[in-house]
Amino acid sequence: MKEYNTMDDFDFENKTVLLRVDFNMPLNKDTLEILDTTRIEKVLPTIKELINKNAKIVVLAHQGRQGSWDFAGLEKHALALEKLLGKPVKFIDDIYGKKAQKAIKEMQLSQVIMLDNVRKFDGETEKKTAEEHALTEFVQNLYPLADIFINDAFAAAHRKHCSLIGFTVVLPSAAGRLLEKELTTLSKIVANPEKPSVFLFGGAKFSDVIVTIERLLENKTADKIILTGLPANAFLKAEGINLGDKNEEMLAKEGTTDNYKEIKKLIKRYKNNIYLPSDFAQQANTDRSEINLSDLPTQYNLCDIGEKSIKSFKDILSSAKTVFLSGPCGVFEKPAFMKGTQEIFTYVANSDVFSIVGGGHTVAAVEQLGLDEKISHISTGGGSLERFMMGEKLAVVEALKAAKNKFS
Ligand code: 3PG
Repeated sequence: MKEYNTMDDFDFENKTVLLRVDFNMPLNKDTLEILDTTRIEKVLPTIKELINKNAKIVVLAHQGRQGSWDFAGLEKHALALEKLLGKPVKFIDDIYGKKAQKAIKEMQLSQVIMLDNVRKFDGETEKKTAEEHALTEFVQNLYPLADIFINDAFAAAHRKHCSLIGFTVVLPSAAGRLLEKELTTLSKIVANPEKPSVFLFGGAKFSDVIVTIERLLENKTADKIILTGLPANAFLKAEGINLGDKNEEMLAKEGTTDNYKEIKKLIKRYKNNIYLPSDFAQQANTDRSEINLSDLPTQYNLCDIGEKSIKSFKDILSSAKTVFLSGPCGVFEKPAFMKGTQEIFTYVANSDVFSIVGGGHTVAAVEQLGLDEKISHISTGGGSLERFMMGEKLAVVEALKAAKNKFS
């Protein structure tokens, strides 16, 4: 018996369901086209089940954050869902106003509509409790029109945002099929990972990664940590290495002085468990050229790990039994800087380790390399997956547990 309700606990016939999913997609920076639809594909079983059970399905989702380049409306997401589902999905360019309310009231059985980016509502990401979020106009306008709230947004399950936890206070609520599957599979790995376990972090964000690494090493969930991408640059900077103006500028956009203090402490405590690149590939014009760590600073952008690092990271991975990959090793979108990600990911996929991959860009990279069939568990989560692996409680799961008690 689960501590939260699942879709098995409800009868959906003629019920209006608010379905919160995570369709936060990697987008092309120039065209804003969706680059990878994995997160939509993974939610299809939930939506199909609701269609077959004659529910009326109102999809809620977010894309990007206010102020970021990938903050966008969800029209393209609705189209992508329609294509994958093979059924019409009506996009409503409103979240909880008159248009949205009218569309919900007029829904037919088995119809799917998708509302606009919930992060267009300023209160969505405000730091509030579930009870406080439940009092917002967003929740107050929509919940009287619905019967059940389903949360299938595993990738955002660590966030205490309005549309993720607010409805659980006022509506009977359940985990969708994807959330249920992620939690069940990952619980087994967190409880009992095969050792040694190696966690690789890359990508273009690092402030969240610091505490993740600390917790993973403290709990002994991770035995070794390999860093690539921006996290590696941040750790090298904390060690006093000058990476060159362009690279330092990239770091300055994300990191605070406190971040570097935390990293220094972490390196002091765990220097034998954390592995950093010894060389890089830099972008001189459009070409790839290799540079050793000892030859930094450089006037160019560091865009990938170099050949020596690829080799030494493979050596570390060769003795692992569990491997977690989060974030590409370099600027994977540019063919010249794909090499690190391609070689490391292919090596992991072809070995017999239990491999877990998470994060929108990481999953996109795995798919692009045609490695998806060879990875043991492809999670839709990025931040949420890391938190879960660290043993942290997920806000969305806690809210669903509370709803189960409240509405039982
Ligand atoms: C993700 O892609 O990790 C989730 O959608 C959460 O996005 P956020 O980090 O912008 O909250």
